[in-house]
Amino acid sequence: MTPEATRLDPPAKPVTDNEQRIIIRGGNPLHGTVRVGGAKNAVLKKMAAALLAPDVSVLRNVPNLTDVQMMAEVLRHLGAKVTISPGEVVIDARNINELEAPYELVSQLRASFIVLGPLLARFGQAKVSLPGGCAIGERRIDLHERGLKQLGADCRIEHGYVYASGSNLSGTRIYLDRPSNGATENIMLAASQADGQTIIENAAQDPEIVNLADFINAMGGRITGAGSYQIAIDGVKAENMHGAVFETIPDRLEAGTFIMAVMTAGGEITIEGVNPHHLYSVISKVTEMGAEVAIYAPDTMKVRTQGRLQGRDVTTVPYPGFPTDLQAPIMAVLASAEGTSIISETIYENRFMHAGELRRMGADIALTGSAAVIKGVPRLMGAEVKATDLRAAAALIIAGLGADGVTELTGLHHLDRGYENLEDKVRALGADIWRR
Ligand code: EPU
Repeated sequence: MTPEATRLDPPAKPVTDNEQRIIIRGGNPLHGTVRVGGAKNAVLKKMAAALLAPDVSVLRNVPNLTDVQMMAEVLRHLGAKVTISPGEVVIDARNINELEAPYELVSQLRASFIVLGPLLARFGQAKVSLPGGCAIGERRIDLHERGLKQLGADCRIEHGYVYASGSNLSGTRIYLDRPSNGATENIMLAASQADGQTIIENAAQDPEIVNLADFINAMGGRITGAGSYQIAIDGVKAENMHGAVFETIPDRLEAGTFIMAVMTAGGEITIEGVNPHHLYSVISKVTEMGAEVAIYAPDTMKVRTQGRLQGRDVTTVPYPGFPTDLQAPIMAVLASAEGTSIISETIYENRFMHAGELRRMGADIALTGSAAVIKGVPRLMGAEVKATDLRAAAALIIAGLGADGVTELTGLHHLDRGYENLEDKVRALGADIWRR
């Protein structure tokens, strides 16, 4: 064998999207102003809700995310015409000719399971693939199923699909064992055209639920109480539903991500286009840890951090509690805060995959069931890490911003599902970060 033949250079190969990476040289403090986009988890549900009426709806303040493109694919599969332009999605739901959302689409985007509610309301039947589990937990749908049955739908699960039918849904009182976002949404949508009044007890209270209820009302629906634990839906006649033009609320999770970013990197940033009311649990926790947060009503806040932060315990709970979707980001902050912190994850059974990646960066994290014990180290070290889900991707960027040396993040398809140009926004604040 010649020396040339033993060389280990990899063969030349074009770089594909899957091999893209974000590279961060940690240590630059963040300064300047950043604007948050529309909330992913509100947009996706409103896109499904547009199916309620044989008309055209326009959604505004829509971020450019792969999840939005994927939801558009699901709606197109059902026969809707969907046009995406910067900041806007137009959905023409006049000619829906397919009532089945297949596995290959729903398995890629769990949020698309929410088409079940509007299809059932408008057409009296739907066949939607079960989304299955994912990297963060089992993610059951028993509360959706039970709620739809209580409305009078025939709902059965066969061969991986939910078959729902019932053209005479009637209002009733539905208690949710836990305040599931998805179940609250599917029941609200299905009940919007039922006979009489439906009351959801122990409903999810998240701002995205309020935004969805407001949109359904703009389409002619009659929903009150969204944002509280009890939502009343007065069914309206199908012919009274119509399209609507509607604004999307700011993404509180994107705003929370910027808060955590300045907590590891240090500095002072202004976050615009945010609703601080949606972030009280987060503001309260990060203030306890030593961050300074000032709110400039109605949509601007400033966050400043100096020196080492204090570790604190965090428990994820349904809104208005500390959001599970910011659990990974705050773990990245606690990893280098002073003292020992315990994170208790009560929403998902398996949302700690990022802990192993943070350990690669020098974090001292022990997992015991649904808790993570984090002993803060003085500084994290840059390393090659891989995102296992959307919020893990954000957490690893946050960790990299405050780490010594270079962090290389792969698994970027997770990031692009839910953040629009996160690295560009953070670079504009002074971070040394790029994608290649
Ligand atoms: N659950 C059940 N039975 C059900 C429904 C839910 O046991 O019938 C359980 C789930 O297994 C999970 C918990 O309840 O453990 C919470 O589920 P929920 O229905 O509230 O969540 P979701 O609607 O599937 C949305 C967001 C998630 C966010 C959760 C909790 C969207 C598209 N997704 O999911 O967002 O974590 O609410 O706030 O709105 C993210 O953005 O990164 C993300 C994962």
